[in-house]
Amino acid sequence: MKKILSVGLIGAGSIARGHVRGIEANDNIALAAVMDIDRRRALALANAHNARAYEKLDDLLNDPQVDAVHVCSIHNAHAEQVIAAARAGKHVLVEKPMALSVVECDRMIAACEAAGVALMVGQVMRHFPVNLKAKAVIRDGAIGEVGHIIRRRYSNFDPPDRSWYLDLELGGVCVLYCFGPHEYDILPWYLDSPVVKVYAQGSESAQRYAGQKDSYSTIMNHQNGAVSVLTQTVVTHTGAHDTHIVGSKGSIWMTNQKLTVNGEDVFLDETSQVGMPRQIGEFADCCLDGKVPDAHGRSVRHTMAVIEAAKRSAERGEPVMVSEFDE
Ligand SMILES: NC(=O)c1ccc[n+]([C@@H]2O[C@H](COP(=O)([O-])OP(=O)(O)OC[C@H]3O[C@@H](n4cnc5c(N)ncnc54)[C@H](O)[C@@H]3O)[C@@H](O)[C@H]2O)c1
Repeated sequence: MKKILSVGLIGAGSIARGHVRGIEANDNIALAAVMDIDRRRALALANAHNARAYEKLDDLLNDPQVDAVHVCSIHNAHAEQVIAAARAGKHVLVEKPMALSVVECDRMIAACEAAGVALMVGQVMRHFPVNLKAKAVIRDGAIGEVGHIIRRRYSNFDPPDRSWYLDLELGGVCVLYCFGPHEYDILPWYLDSPVVKVYAQGSESAQRYAGQKDSYSTIMNHQNGAVSVLTQTVVTHTGAHDTHIVGSKGSIWMTNQKLTVNGEDVFLDETSQVGMPRQIGEFADCCLDGKVPDAHGRSVRHTMAVIEAAKRSAERGEPVMVSEFDE
């Protein structure tokens, strides 16, 4: 008989709905329960998908039919919820950011390893066809040795007043901990080369982000000698999200949906929409068959160390070695 992973969602907000669609697109995983501290939200999502609703984490974790959880709650809840889930013997897929500090990441990894459960982080961009293709082009040597990656992520992210997204304690610096977990993750991932040194500068530009930097520029040195330059803002009204990768024999240009190699369009028969279902399918496979996910806890711990190094670099006004935060 086919094995099916039975999962519970923690947090029933906007990304949880994406997770439900991703679960429903796979036949090796099924939604059993939804938990949210806001009971109405838990009930609404659970009722719409024939699942049980819980208001308390312990009740979800004591449900014997729940094999695994997807942590889709706010950032400062991730670490303790992952640790509690591991102690209850549940496999874990946690949304980005893995946590708000490397110290928390270490506690999460230790809890999951001690319990023998999977720990995967929702680095959905690793599942985008455009990114998988770009990584393969680099790995196959089509552009030679990569010297530079230049990436821009500009948006106008305007959460309502009093949103947890704007609260430093609940969400962390928004540009670094909402969008940064994708960006600082994908650059070393393209190259299979970790970041060793970071120099970052940030600015507090727009009033609605008063008290935190809303724009960051970061120069990163990779172990293999390549340099990545990432510029990010959440307060520009004209968006941009693209990457140039330059190598000794050629170059890549890409957006979320489009890829050119040496100036020629590369046909992609799927869009980034397949990212979430693929991510969830990989999680189910790993839990059912004991495989290790690509975005496993130790892999993404590096991403969180780079973000912490960037934050510290901007505070100190000088370059920071990632080894200060990394293993
Ligand atoms: N992968 C992506 O591209 C992507 C996109 C958006 C959000 N996210 C991530 O998903 C997570 C949730 O973001 P969102 O946009 O869905 O937020 P949201 O505000 O829409 O939903 C958060 C939900 O969590 C609930 N909640 C708050 N504290 C809780 C707790 N202690 N236990 C259980 N539930 C709790 C809230 O009641 C709310 O229903 C964040 O980590 C965010 O960064 C990822």
